[in-house]
Amino acid sequence: MGADPLRVLVLGGGSEIALRAVARLSSERDVRCVLAARDAPAARTRAAELGAERAVVGATTWDAREADRHDAAVAAAVEVLGGLDAAICAVGSLGHASGEAGAADVWSLMTANAAGPAAALAAVARAMSARGGGSIVVLSSVAALRPRRSNYPYGAAKSAIDAFARGLAGAHPSLRVQVLRPGFVRTRMTRGLEEAPFTIGPDRAARAVVRALGARRSRTWYVPWVLRPVFAVLRALPGPLWRVVAGDR
Ligand SMILES: NC(=O)c1ccc[n+]([C@@H]2O[C@H](COP(=O)([O-])OP(=O)(O)OC[C@H]3O[C@@H](n4cnc5c(N)ncnc54)[C@H](OP(=O)(O)O)[C@@H]3O)[C@@H](O)[C@H]2O)c1
Repeated sequence: MGADPLRVLVLGGGSEIALRAVARLSSERDVRCVLAARDAPAARTRAAELGAERAVVGATTWDAREADRHDAAVAAAVEVLGGLDAAICAVGSLGHASGEAGAADVWSLMTANAAGPAAALAAVARAMSARGGGSIVVLSSVAALRPRRSNYPYGAAKSAIDAFARGLAGAHPSLRVQVLRPGFVRTRMTRGLEEAPFTIGPDRAARAVVRALGARRSRTWYVPWVLRPVFAVLRALPGPLWRVVAGDR
């Protein structure tokens, strides 16, 4: 293990993919991690279940939908860690619209998946830039690429956070910002849903997070990689054909 621990903040600290990534990372090197989660004690319990407890040195309460908590949550993490080298943004709330989403649901999904994480990432970027740089992984989704009837508020929000993260990379040259676009991953979020083609397990997604964290330049990743050519085609399909392929008939 190296002398200097890697100081990591996880936004959405209960995420299965993120916690598996922290567990994997801490098997390779010394890691100190703070979880920012809407239920901080539950996130710590999940960290223990997924083998990340050794790395977790703190957990702070943070709900992405609370407009005035972002700076404070990031500042608390930076204080506990004594700096910040890396951040994983793994907030995600799928919801289920089925074309019937009401105003309150849409507001909640757009805020939880996009506005809140973006505000927190702005605070992370400021903290990292002030200290000379850092590495950020943002879990976007292939859902960002084309809306589906069953979860279009989630897809729209993922589109926003995906664009925001790519913009952040351009605005902060000292940061390395990785935008990950997984397809269907078997986690708590997708439990009970019908699997899509190219479904992967959570460990494979976690491996992709760890690999991205170590990348030297900002870039966009598809997980698994085959989704890049697949979605190049799917994005170009005429609407009626896309709706059949996406199961949105
Ligand atoms: N699983 C997939 O198929 C898939 C595919 C593409 C992209 N992704 C993305 O990958 C990331 C991780 O997902 P996962 O599969 O690991 O699912 P997960 O275990 O359900 O993780 C999502 C996390 O987001 C947190 N969260 C939701 N709303 C929040 C809010 N308002 N404030 C703070 N935290 C909130 C959840 O908190 P609680 O622990 O309190 O519920 C949960 O810990 C997400 O960004 C997701 O969109 C997942």
